[in-house]
Amino acid sequence: MRALITAGGRATRLRPITWTLNKHLIPLANKPMLEHAILKVVEAGIIDIGVNINEGDKEISDALGDGARLGARLTYIEQKGGPKGLAHIIKNARDVGFLKRGERFLMYLGDNIILGSLRHLVERFQNENRNCMLALSRVSDPERFGVPEIKDGRIVRVVEKPLEPMCDFAITGIYLYDDRALEAVDELKPSSRGELEISDLHQWYLDHGLNVGYEEITGWWKDTGKPEDLLEGNQLLLNEFRFEDSENGAEIGENVVIQGRVKIGHGTRISEKVLIRGPVVIGENCEIKNSYIGPYTSIGDHTVITNTEIEHSIIFPHCRINAGTRIVDGIIGQNATVTSAHDTLPLGHKLVIGDNSVVEL
Ligand code: G1P
Repeated sequence: MRALITAGGRATRLRPITWTLNKHLIPLANKPMLEHAILKVVEAGIIDIGVNINEGDKEISDALGDGARLGARLTYIEQKGGPKGLAHIIKNARDVGFLKRGERFLMYLGDNIILGSLRHLVERFQNENRNCMLALSRVSDPERFGVPEIKDGRIVRVVEKPLEPMCDFAITGIYLYDDRALEAVDELKPSSRGELEISDLHQWYLDHGLNVGYEEITGWWKDTGKPEDLLEGNQLLLNEFRFEDSENGAEIGENVVIQGRVKIGHGTRISEKVLIRGPVVIGENCEIKNSYIGPYTSIGDHTVITNTEIEHSIIFPHCRINAGTRIVDGIIGQNATVTSAHDTLPLGHKLVIGDNSVVEL
């Protein structure tokens, strides 16, 4: 079985971070969102993975290469003519020969994060000989998603972003299909937002009397389009993070106190007075001095933090932070510098801030 993972789109609502970085490469628990998706698919036993990318995109393939590092064989598939909907991505993958008649496949939206394994879902799809299988999750705002109508334990209808949801289930971005999907996508018509909707494909299966199964999953995360959602995704992943390789190849000074579950990357040096209270993940070749790193913080590779208290934050790689104060709920993009104004004259906050940034002083 093959898998198709989506990694295109513009993610305009996650600006400023997405001005310079594809949303799917935003690090959560120090791994690009897309890597989490690939690892889940590989764990479910599928290694042939097509990654749908924007036309001309090189960023994703530069970051993930051929996938061998993740145990996968990746094929990059450019979506010609821009984003035209999730069902169009299937059509495109068929046209380039990645999805083939006679084969079933898994589709996974690369900005969905799940805890736990997909193995059970995939096995059920195979063993119960379903035509299509959908992963559902209970949410407080189903109107933002595809929503199923369920009667007597069967899905009877699917509506994309209904104004009045029929239940509190969202159809997550994890779908399994037989090869009928490959012909069905030719029969779909663009929706009012001009896209070939994935929900219309699911409705096609139902309209043709085919067997559409579902399974409820828990521990599902998808951003609502706000940058602060990333902190929630980071928190979720740090909660289930496996910390067994901690402190491998890091240099830890005498006055450093480490409490709870903390992972520190190779080549990172921590010295002077430092308290780290997990869950925390710190990348490779970082330097941390005279600071407090509190729960639910991820710090990317090559970042230097001195004289700062920081918690519940995502710090990207190559940052320099010497704030002399406490930072909470921060998202600090790649290469950013945050320093204390007390070291320079005149006193006062000196800010160089990109478009659409948010600063609370
Ligand atoms: C898409 C699908 C929707 C699904 C959601 C899950 O929505 O159209 O049915 O519930 O992904 O992530 P979109 O993110 O395009 O609004």
